[in-house]
Amino acid sequence: MNKVKTIAKKDLLGLKDLSISEIKLILNTARSMKEVAARPIPKVPTLLAKHIITLFYEPSTRTRTSFNMAAKILSANVTNVAISSSSVSKGENLIDTVKNLEVMGCDAIIIRHSMGGAPHLAAKNCQSSVINAGDGFNEHPTQGLLDIFTMQEKKGDLKNKKVLIVGDIAHSRVARSNIWGLKKLGAEVVVVGPPTMIPVGLEAMGVRVSCDFDAEIRDADIINMLRIQKERQEKGLFPSIEEYAKLFGLNAERMKKAPKDVVVMHPGPINRGIEITSEVADGSNNVILEQVTNGVAVRAAILFLLLSGKNSD
Ligand code: CP
Repeated sequence: MNKVKTIAKKDLLGLKDLSISEIKLILNTARSMKEVAARPIPKVPTLLAKHIITLFYEPSTRTRTSFNMAAKILSANVTNVAISSSSVSKGENLIDTVKNLEVMGCDAIIIRHSMGGAPHLAAKNCQSSVINAGDGFNEHPTQGLLDIFTMQEKKGDLKNKKVLIVGDIAHSRVARSNIWGLKKLGAEVVVVGPPTMIPVGLEAMGVRVSCDFDAEIRDADIINMLRIQKERQEKGLFPSIEEYAKLFGLNAERMKKAPKDVVVMHPGPINRGIEITSEVADGSNNVILEQVTNGVAVRAAILFLLLSGKNSD
């Protein structure tokens, strides 16, 4: 009988920490999970009796729901902690919250937090697996993995494929996870955005920086558009929404300059008419809802790889 492959890690905290072979194992496992999710009865008993807790200090539609669905496909139990009605509102700190949840008997805690490094802190202070569902401006590893999974479905091997990541790079955990993963898989990554939204020293991650979307789009294989965080506009990082959309938005006019088979992506939620027009977001090159579908398979793969080798106490 073949030995089931798992990841020799307690936690999934970022793509920065994953080896190339670990990334490939997750992506290959996600392919199997996608097949399971598409069955008439999408359920296997692999994580029966495992208990998973989601602890989201920031809002989410896609990530939390797809983790729930992934856990249910694997027959795990899930508890969603509602932060606003939890004792966090009485001032309980993250470590105390995690330790209290753990002693109730959970195998994994999935954390989204506004503070970069919060899941790492939790992971150091508990035995349960911790999965980072987005931490501040640091990483969103499961989004990075589902993006890469979708890119591979559309474009095959990503080696030397040109991927544009466009928008507010400085405040984007999605951008950082994409960059770590794509560079490990040999893609050419170009980040495009206003200079005020590109962190100093980003080239050290192996990417090229450009402010000229019209020039870069001409030979792009994939365009990953980032959500513009409108709250940043108050801080004067760009003069106006209209000017941002003109220079860095993806619209039908700009799409005419792109190769016919370019793949258009967006992690969601979308600000329609700002970083991307509805015509393009819903157009023939977009794979945005396929990304969301793939999120269930990728998250199921991660739960499987982290938890299936662990004995329940
Ligand atoms: N892409 C993403 O993280 O979406 P949610 O905020 O809805 O989870």
